[in-house]
Amino acid sequence: MVVPRVQAAIAHAFGDEFRDTDPVIRPSQFADIQVNAAMALARNVGLPPREAAARIVEALDVDGLCSLVEVSGPGFINLTLDGSWIQELLNASEPAGDAARPAPLHRVVVDYSSPNVAKEMHVGHLRTTVVGDSIVRVLEALGHTVIRQNHIGDWGTPFGMLIEHWLEVGEDSPDAALLIDDPSAFYQAARAKFDASTPETDGFATRARLRVVSLQAGDPETFAVWQRLVAQSKRYFNAIYTVLGISLTDDHIAGESSYDAHLAQLCQELEERGIARISEGALCTFPAGFTGRDGDPLPLIIRKSDGGYGYGTTDLATIRYRVRDLSADRVLYVVGAPQNVHLRMVMATARDAGWLPDAVEATHVQIGNVLGEDGKILKSRAGNPVKLMALLQEAVDRARAVIDASRPELSDAERAVTARQVGIGAVKYADLSTGHDTEYVFDFDRMLALTGNTGPYVQYAAARIRSILRKAGELDRHVGAAAGAAPAATIAVVEPAERALALHLLEYDATLQKVGELLEPHRLCAYLFELAQLFTAFYEQCPVLKAEDTVRESRLALCGVVLRRLSGGLDLLGIETPENM
Ligand code: ARG
Repeated sequence: MVVPRVQAAIAHAFGDEFRDTDPVIRPSQFADIQVNAAMALARNVGLPPREAAARIVEALDVDGLCSLVEVSGPGFINLTLDGSWIQELLNASEPAGDAARPAPLHRVVVDYSSPNVAKEMHVGHLRTTVVGDSIVRVLEALGHTVIRQNHIGDWGTPFGMLIEHWLEVGEDSPDAALLIDDPSAFYQAARAKFDASTPETDGFATRARLRVVSLQAGDPETFAVWQRLVAQSKRYFNAIYTVLGISLTDDHIAGESSYDAHLAQLCQELEERGIARISEGALCTFPAGFTGRDGDPLPLIIRKSDGGYGYGTTDLATIRYRVRDLSADRVLYVVGAPQNVHLRMVMATARDAGWLPDAVEATHVQIGNVLGEDGKILKSRAGNPVKLMALLQEAVDRARAVIDASRPELSDAERAVTARQVGIGAVKYADLSTGHDTEYVFDFDRMLALTGNTGPYVQYAAARIRSILRKAGELDRHVGAAAGAAPAATIAVVEPAERALALHLLEYDATLQKVGELLEPHRLCAYLFELAQLFTAFYEQCPVLKAEDTVRESRLALCGVVLRRLSGGLDLLGIETPENM
């Protein structure tokens, strides 16, 4: 709310070229808002910081918005907001404040989840799935057009071996059912057969190689088997998505195979235009700025020396498709951090080829590794390979044990629902609340804790408000309305705890804009965590149900607004709000 005014004041006082300075603004213990813009600015304009601050204040137009503006310390600007203005904004229906600021709307392609056929989804895929789905939800809420793309790994040489194995065990056999129940076991079995096979004994490896050739040549029978195999894997992915409440459907699948027909022509074009050249028998691009350990230019191999195409070739066809055919002006890859160099090389080559114009943003939203307690990438627990479905079930079971003990009076069905919401919510929140590029240790005790920046803590605050409103007999009155509707009764912002809560509520739109711009859902988690804390402080200091008349009305309405924010925010994280907890 105040940011644009501060920027305007800076521009007015020092000229338009300084308008872009992103002023650091934060709440402080001395004022509602502290602006820390003058220090950096002072250096650029050659004035003492306090003087620069004074010049900004002079140009600052916050009439009706602030009741007090003063320069403090080495050059901070302290702003105290006008109580009646806070109250007015809080009681208005949205959009209020920053959401009113027009932001350019984008057509965004988001590549996320993207697991591999006939393989287990690992915790890395879990995280790209969860973070990607939240980014998608936030972007949609901000009004952008979002195209989800699930770039599943459904092509390549292993498919010869997988198809042969599948045919051998029988499509309806228990061994084949592993594709849905334990994909890794299925893959390992095929792999073991392949590795053990010799032409003299069974010739499995030879048949597998021939099968790849038939598949790539478009042999109808092989293609049909491959399709059925992929369909089985989709059932596995969808089972995981359903448990997690992920918004991906089969319609969003655009796997590696869908680009196959374009790869030969793509390589030829790059070669003819001199963007790719043969190096040690392989066709490669050497985008500027990428060098190996030895300092030599790093190749992006797009056609191997045996004539085969690889991951990079597919990704070039993919990025071209997203810009040219899907008309994206923002392309996001929510993909594990270890693939950063690969993706940046793909983007650089696409820029060289003119397939990714300057006006189109391409960003790798790097997803950090999820670690086990030993500090290594989480692959096994207690000596067994991690199965994602079992891991999620364990989260629900643990949440169930807690709710069974704390709310025995709830019905079995109610406790089952809450346990699912809390268990799954905790796992998702853990993925979302750390910077997406930061590694973290998978720890059930920490993610399920009812204190700290956890899913259950935020969910608990929401469930508690539901129970307050239910006791007042006013749940429907306050939560029935749409998220952006005005409060059900006029809110008077009087007590300091009410004021702090109100101010934070008004930061929501700006927070959401930032999440969409920087693609950082952890900011939304931090916002909701703080909201839950401020609510708890308010509820300790300001009686609600025991207050009388208009004060009670006002506080119940404030509870209602907080609840809508909490559950609306959780929804954008893909997390449900329990009725009871
Ligand atoms: N299937 C890949 C993996 O499991 C992720 C694909 C990411 N998307 C892409 N366009 N490369 O590592």
